[in-house]
Amino acid sequence: MCGIVGYVGNKPVVDILMDGLEQLEYRGYDSSGIAVMCPEDIKVYKAIGKLQNLRDKLRGHEKEFNTSTMGIGHIRWATHGAPTLLNAHPHTCNCGRLVVVHNGIIENYEALRDSLGVENELKSETDSEIIAVLIDRQYKKYKNCEKAIIESVKMLQGTFALAIIFDGEGDKIYATRNVSPIVCCKSEKGSLIASDIIAIGQYSENYFVLPEMTIAKITRDDIEIKDFAGNSVCPEILKLDWDINAGTKGGFPFYMEKEICEQPDVLRKTINSRIKNSLPDLSEDKISDELFENCTDITVIACGTAMHAGLIGKHLIENICEIPVNVYMASEFIYSNPIINKSTLVICVSQSGETIDTLEALKYAQKKGAKSLAIVNVKGSSIAMQSDYVIYTQAGPEIAVASTKAYTTQVAIFYLLTARMAYTKKKLNYEGVTKFIDELAKLPDAVENIIARKEEIHLLAKKLLASEHTFMIGRGFDYPSLLEASLKLKEISYIHSEAFASGELKHGTIALISKGTPVIALMTQRYLAAKQISNIKEVMSRKAEVITFAKKSLVTKDINCDFVLPEIDDDFTAVPSVVALQLLAYYVSSDKGLDVDKPRNLAKVVTVE
Ligand code: M6R
Repeated sequence: MCGIVGYVGNKPVVDILMDGLEQLEYRGYDSSGIAVMCPEDIKVYKAIGKLQNLRDKLRGHEKEFNTSTMGIGHIRWATHGAPTLLNAHPHTCNCGRLVVVHNGIIENYEALRDSLGVENELKSETDSEIIAVLIDRQYKKYKNCEKAIIESVKMLQGTFALAIIFDGEGDKIYATRNVSPIVCCKSEKGSLIASDIIAIGQYSENYFVLPEMTIAKITRDDIEIKDFAGNSVCPEILKLDWDINAGTKGGFPFYMEKEICEQPDVLRKTINSRIKNSLPDLSEDKISDELFENCTDITVIACGTAMHAGLIGKHLIENICEIPVNVYMASEFIYSNPIINKSTLVICVSQSGETIDTLEALKYAQKKGAKSLAIVNVKGSSIAMQSDYVIYTQAGPEIAVASTKAYTTQVAIFYLLTARMAYTKKKLNYEGVTKFIDELAKLPDAVENIIARKEEIHLLAKKLLASEHTFMIGRGFDYPSLLEASLKLKEISYIHSEAFASGELKHGTIALISKGTPVIALMTQRYLAAKQISNIKEVMSRKAEVITFAKKSLVTKDINCDFVLPEIDDDFTAVPSVVALQLLAYYVSSDKGLDVDKPRNLAKVVTVE
């Protein structure tokens, strides 16, 4: 969704802003714009569609901005108002002397517009332009930039990250936020802000998250932060713990393929750092056994792929720790009157750590007294900061909209949590838990085995290229993996796909199976194999085109097996099977010539409800 970048320093600003916006492209956007402090005034350039269109617009204007070293930029994912030039950010006021970019939603923009009586002055249909008008009014009143911003922000309802520049007030960018993220860093080239560290991480490995409801005054040599009462605020400095080149395609045609192939490494990183003396050890994450000892039930809250990781977690925790686990779609949670109390452990799962539904659900659960633990990939993100405890997946930056390595590392964390919880609650003894950990340590190799055979999956993908619909069937632990595989296929190939617990198919959906309907069958669970084989035969007898992925020891003469999954304990198959199906979705999308990394209508970071 929307992304912000800002720079003030000693280098030409336009290249820095454009590079930053390019790094934020993965968030999803439909227009973009920059505002640059030029010698005579602030120049604003905007374009609809891809960033290349903005680059094209800038061509020929170099003389205007080539000495400029300060500016702000924005990519917009349309919410209020279509993707048009007028609605694109930056928004200006006072004949262009005040410029604002905004990420978030201003809920009371209509009320503000009416109370200021400016309906006829506004040029856009956005909820954002009113912020520029509001700040301008306050600036005229107080003749002080900081005061004008603070007084305006006090009137805003909703979520916002703002970057603001004023003509005639020197080379300064002001930034403030509520919920929506802003990170800041300083380097020898100057000071930078952005919605995500990926946009500015190349300038410094040290950065900080701007605390909510504070104001930052960003100059070339300094970033000064104050709360709204004027007290200095000292934010916690974070260190970038991934190689900045991790944010490039590294020779792969798409980020998604690169990220799928990174899974053995990131799984090793996520798992190995949390195993000490063959036991799961979460002490570096500051998670003590007390958290598990005191919890009677668990509620997992997440969206999309992250929620599917929660379903795998439910299976593991309920089976091994014998504690009830409810998994909620975050968007439904606060409206479901969920049964949670002080002994409930709420686990929020999120790659970005910024998904607004998950964040709001977390706050709601905390108000009900639940303890909270976040499984998050992005350091210092809102969900990580809000939660009582946090475990970071060590997936590194995930750029493709379709989540892959973030998902498998989330699942890896659920294995570790299950092991530690089972040990703490005496559901597994020392031998039991070390055996579990030994099996877990085999996952990266199992994934490597699949990636080494990716061309086999590529051939299978060809069978789906002309399909409009597919069905996926599996039983028990395989079912949540198929929900995830099905989401992957839908979002990047635009083929309608539905996952079913195999036994459920004949309660209606089998009516849709006819000659040639593609059905992907997954079979990794020994105790369910006979039943799954009979479900596969049911669809075969209706002439479906079945593509079967089966664990080596379950391959039988009774049905054709199209892809043999590596032999691994039944409780650990969720990771290798999903990687095989991620590759299937990937090849369908790339062979169809689609933009695998940026599927239509989707945004990587979903910051609106
Ligand atoms: O950043 P989050 O993990 O909170 O995002 C949740 C979902 O939006 C995300 O998993 C989405 O479903 C992915 N695009 C799926 O590939």
